[in-house]
Amino acid sequence: MLPCLVVAAVISCGSAISAVGNANHIFNAIHSSMRQWGSSLYHNGMSFFLASVPAGTQLYHGGPSPDHVIGTEWLAFEPEHAILFARMPPMGSQPGVPGRGPHKGPPPGHGGPGGPGRQKPLLLEPPEDEEPRSSGWLQTYVPVRDLRLLYIDGMSAGKTSNGTLDSQNRILVNDTVHDDQIMNEFARAREFCRLSHEVWNDRLDGVIRMEAGFEIILCEFERDLHLLHEVEVQANKGGIPRHLPRPGKDHNKTMHEIVPDSGPWIKAITARYHGIGGNRVKVNYDHFVTAFTYELDIFGGQSKNLRPRLDHLDTSQLEPIRQDLKALILGHDTNEPSFDWQSVTDMVVERYAHTLKSLVSANITANMKQLHDDLKKVVDPFFDFGGRNITAEAERCATQFIPFNAPIESVAARAVRSIADSVCFTLLEAFDEPNYDTAVAKIQDLVDYLAWTTWKECRGCADNEVCVIPIWPMGIWEDWESPTCRDMRNPQADGVEYWGRVFVPGPTEHDDS
Ligand SMILES: *[C@@H]1O[C@H](CO)[C@@H](O)[C@H](O)[C@H]1NC(C)=O
Ligand SMILES: *[C@@H]1O[C@H](CO)[C@@H](O)[C@H](O)[C@H]1NC(C)=O
Ligand SMILES: *[C@@H]1O[C@H](CO)[C@@H](O)[C@H](O)[C@H]1NC(C)=O
Ligand SMILES: *[C@@H]1O[C@H](CO)[C@@H](O)[C@H](O)[C@H]1NC(C)=O
Ligand SMILES: *[C@@H]1O[C@H](CO)[C@@H](O)[C@H](O)[C@H]1NC(C)=O
Repeated sequence: MLPCLVVAAVISCGSAISAVGNANHIFNAIHSSMRQWGSSLYHNGMSFFLASVPAGTQLYHGGPSPDHVIGTEWLAFEPEHAILFARMPPMGSQPGVPGRGPHKGPPPGHGGPGGPGRQKPLLLEPPEDEEPRSSGWLQTYVPVRDLRLLYIDGMSAGKTSNGTLDSQNRILVNDTVHDDQIMNEFARAREFCRLSHEVWNDRLDGVIRMEAGFEIILCEFERDLHLLHEVEVQANKGGIPRHLPRPGKDHNKTMHEIVPDSGPWIKAITARYHGIGGNRVKVNYDHFVTAFTYELDIFGGQSKNLRPRLDHLDTSQLEPIRQDLKALILGHDTNEPSFDWQSVTDMVVERYAHTLKSLVSANITANMKQLHDDLKKVVDPFFDFGGRNITAEAERCATQFIPFNAPIESVAARAVRSIADSVCFTLLEAFDEPNYDTAVAKIQDLVDYLAWTTWKECRGCADNEVCVIPIWPMGIWEDWESPTCRDMRNPQADGVEYWGRVFVPGPTEHDDS
């Protein structure tokens, strides 16, 4: 395959950089980190990053009570995301919560891991006979010091059976939360906080994940947060998901059927398509753990499969990743200085995404002369008037966006360099290629290999539209294949549900303890 040849060619030409497998996927993971767009497209995250959120960052929590939360709960980066949970029905008593009977878990009001005995709001349904609450509270919290977090990439808060939970279930919590408990958020949160406390020397305060918006699960609200202010909000107004998965009732429904009106917070969420913004999260790219580097068959033998899975692997195959994750957490502080490789991926993508696409678009480059002229313009700055040397040219081109003193041995460094090498070498080879079809095929292979997220983005959505891609629990297959601009009041089009149907276990079918 072309990219391997490219890598091999560069190595054989004496480069000091050693190759890294899955460089395209690692490059895309770095490029998409903390971005709603790319993390929705490549929703099965395979990586864990250390991250910190600065003291003073405003974070939002929605719930039934005005009191300062004690224990483990959820925070959103956007108030439109949190307010949904302020408007939810009561969450105190909860007969029939999937996987968790009323007798299980800590009793309401108790602190510690698991907090006040509540589960993630999206999972809950009030008993049929209970009066709906008329109001709830939207609270604004600020961390009293920098939060030390583990960022689980992809759409890791998406409660699906499609692989969005693989890295958490199989690596982070080491198979202690079972496959048929995909909705069992409480168990995952509790296990994370237990690990942090008992195994990782209290070195982490919580996790960052993404669904329709980024969120933090924080283990000890009372220790880490100052309650800045709060407002009372009316319950069940503004397209609130009133009906949530109910055991026995929502079996074999789509999440979209269960949560019918998901429009209101869409605009706020899509504003973060290209980054969480405001330096609210700092990610360490120098040291991270990714399943992409372990030579595992995570694509089921199909190299072009863009939805990697970990569910089929034996636990022993995953143990090295678990050990490396533990070493990462114990060996590095979340606030240690690190090089911003995401900014380099941005420069590469912004420079070449449109160029590569236009080169393979037959209407623009219809013949060899035209293609050759277009390629010349791209590679010209790297030619030496004194004589051609493709190795030296590729090197000048590939190192263009990488600072001279950047670290070169890390996984990120090698993946980014490998992608830059692939782009530059392919462009130079295509320039030297006399046959039009062969030249275009080389570039097309490169485009397929790179699979940059920008190529799926809509162009020119109107002010009242958003570029729609499946974000759990919404979405149809067509919008993953080719996302389109849709009216934000009605973002869900008709089609085959992307996330399929929900398996809601009955209340007696499981025991999460
Ligand atoms: C689930 O519902 C769909 C649509 O109503 C139906 O076609 C399908 O047979 C159902 N599957 C099961 C297992 O009940
Ligand atoms: C994961 O679980 C297995 C089986 O219980 C155990 O042998 C292994 O040590 C655990 N790994 C970690 C990192 O805790
Ligand atoms: C190429 O041009 C033809 C005729 O001008 C047009 O019908 C076709 O849609 C164009 N294809 C693309 C991919 O732009
Ligand atoms: C081409 O460039 C490479 C890298 O700079 C160098 O090692 C090699 O000697 C050059 N080849 C020729 C024929 O000059
Ligand atoms: C997700 O899983 C459901 C249930 O198996 C399936 O119907 C749906 O097609 C899957 N979607 C993707 C993206 O794999």
